[in-house]
Amino acid sequence: MPTPLPALAFGGDYNPEQWPPEAHVEDRELMRTAGVDLVTLGVFSWAHLQPGPDRWDFSWLDEQMDALHAAGIRVDLATATASPPPWLTRRHPEMLPITQDGRTLWPGARQAFCPSSPVYREHALRLCRALGERYAEHPALALWHVSNEIGCHNARCYCEVSAAAFRRWLRARYDDDVDRLNHVWGTAFWSQRYGDFEEVLPPRVAPAWSNPTQQLDFLRFSSDQLLDNFVVERDVLHEVSPGVPVTTNAMVMRNTFEMDYFRWGREVDIVSNDHYLTAADPHAHRELAFSADLTRGTAGGRPWLLMEHSTSAVNWQPRNLAKAPGEMIRSSLAHVAHGADAVLFFQWRASRAGAEKFHSALLPHAGTDSRQWREVVRLSQILDAVEEVAGSVARNQTAILFDWDAWWGCELDSHPSVDVRYRDRAEDLHRSLSAAGVGVDVVHPDTDLTAYRLILVPTLYLVTDAAAAAVAARAAAGASVVVTYFSGIVDEHDHIRLGGYPGAFRDLLGVRSTEFLPLGEHQHVQVEGLGDELSSADVWSEDVTLAGAEAVATMVDGPAAGLPAVTRRPVGSGAAWYVATRLSPDGTDQLVRRVVAEAGIERLPGAGPDVEVTRRVSGDRSWLFVINHGTEVARVPVRGTELVSDRVVDADLVVPGGGVAVVREGRS
Ligand code: GAL
Ligand code: ZN
Repeated sequence: MPTPLPALAFGGDYNPEQWPPEAHVEDRELMRTAGVDLVTLGVFSWAHLQPGPDRWDFSWLDEQMDALHAAGIRVDLATATASPPPWLTRRHPEMLPITQDGRTLWPGARQAFCPSSPVYREHALRLCRALGERYAEHPALALWHVSNEIGCHNARCYCEVSAAAFRRWLRARYDDDVDRLNHVWGTAFWSQRYGDFEEVLPPRVAPAWSNPTQQLDFLRFSSDQLLDNFVVERDVLHEVSPGVPVTTNAMVMRNTFEMDYFRWGREVDIVSNDHYLTAADPHAHRELAFSADLTRGTAGGRPWLLMEHSTSAVNWQPRNLAKAPGEMIRSSLAHVAHGADAVLFFQWRASRAGAEKFHSALLPHAGTDSRQWREVVRLSQILDAVEEVAGSVARNQTAILFDWDAWWGCELDSHPSVDVRYRDRAEDLHRSLSAAGVGVDVVHPDTDLTAYRLILVPTLYLVTDAAAAAVAARAAAGASVVVTYFSGIVDEHDHIRLGGYPGAFRDLLGVRSTEFLPLGEHQHVQVEGLGDELSSADVWSEDVTLAGAEAVATMVDGPAAGLPAVTRRPVGSGAAWYVATRLSPDGTDQLVRRVVAEAGIERLPGAGPDVEVTRRVSGDRSWLFVINHGTEVARVPVRGTELVSDRVVDADLVVPGGGVAVVREGRS
């Protein structure tokens, strides 16, 4: 019988095929020392499992599964389909991916396959079924791990096979009606009118800017195609291995934009995510917090698994900075604070050879006499101490709306300014709310918003009528709404909403702009009215006129000098705010303070710019997480039992600089 997942799983990717048998014995001993209870096995082992078209070798995996089970370690078993073996691509070069400019991506690294390739799919499903049948009943098996980071390197393929698949997808989307496609794509422009679906191509490198809706649909198609590769493997596993949950590791983090993970979240049995910090970002923990909340959003609020992060440096950034002492523990706990029920890493033992040999691991090259190892052991103890939080969830009054469709639309070419980046405002609002002690859910615009009293709509460039109406309805029912510039501009086809900006939100906000006035590179302007002093802004302005709203702040200089920068329109018992420029972090803080107070949002105790505070709840129990990213002592007024140090707190919890705490709230 397979086994359930550990409560707060701890471990990582395990690649024993890279090491001789002596190392395996040591691996299991050290895994026990470190308290590892879940490993992800076999992610890149296709070539080992199937050395030729009709040659299979499961013996080494049988041994691993049995030995791990004997050692009390559970397995997240990969279907190993992430990287096809050389014999397969040699026989079928037509399955190699082709870039937008027509170059072939050759084998020799990983993921060298076209996501639409029927050859890839046939072979992947054969392997998936063979593994599923063989290990369905294995007592070490806790979870199936389909492929790996689907779309990491091959998200968009422009080959002939992909072109045909794209056309099939378009026929289904547009009811086989090419005139419908012509209308939606706006092909009256630049003589792009199609007479037949067979004339349609993926947006390959063209003499000028490709049709934007063609680009948008190609992104949608590509995400769907990748998701479909997950779904077909999942269905095989559900058939041959019923009752064992199936996941695939997403990559919700700053620069991953090709996969619409809200759609993926509905297809997996449990969401899992990989997250790597941008080492060059001194405030990377803020991006982590945002991404973790977004991951929880893709999981519909349910707990999720942190499938991969790193103990220290990675190998793939320009400068692979090591994590500072304590940082790995803070990052790990931060994921748990935002809803993760597992802390797993890439990878167990640092490789001796291969492209990732300089990537950190639980067990570094230096061995156990190392800071990394000592912190790994410490982390494991902390996770044991806080294990009771597993299964609990967040309950927040504030939502940020986030949509991959809007991201894709927003970052197409030929736009007013390259400085308008989709995640930018969302992350800054999230930072500011966190510093104010406001817990945030990051949710899709189609989510039921009834529970939220404060709804933030950052840069929602593309929005459907229904989603815009749902936001307006919440405002009418008393919620506060904050919309930032370049929102509501187009519908789902990337067609402009006519009559003035910000299109879909104009009436709700009571403003109307007739022209965007983006700022020059590095140009800063001043804004008056947010606080006692002027604050600065950059990137954006527009010729806002008031149509029912009042001006809260005004542009002092720049192309919109004298015009509203921030507006507010009372709606029912709530209000709708518009932010028509990119406020500095201070400006955002001032705005957020006012809106949070006005909306009467509950604030978590003790939070600050460097002190992250979140709450997880389960029934009538709750846990307060405090992660002190700063160097100063943090004092948090809370009563309960602090689990990391196992002590009773009856007034102020003191968390030293760099420290973490988890308090079971209430008198014990
Ligand atoms: C992920 C991947 C792992 C490893 C890791 C390195 O992209 O799933 O296999 O490559 O990054 O950071
Ligand atoms: Zn292709």
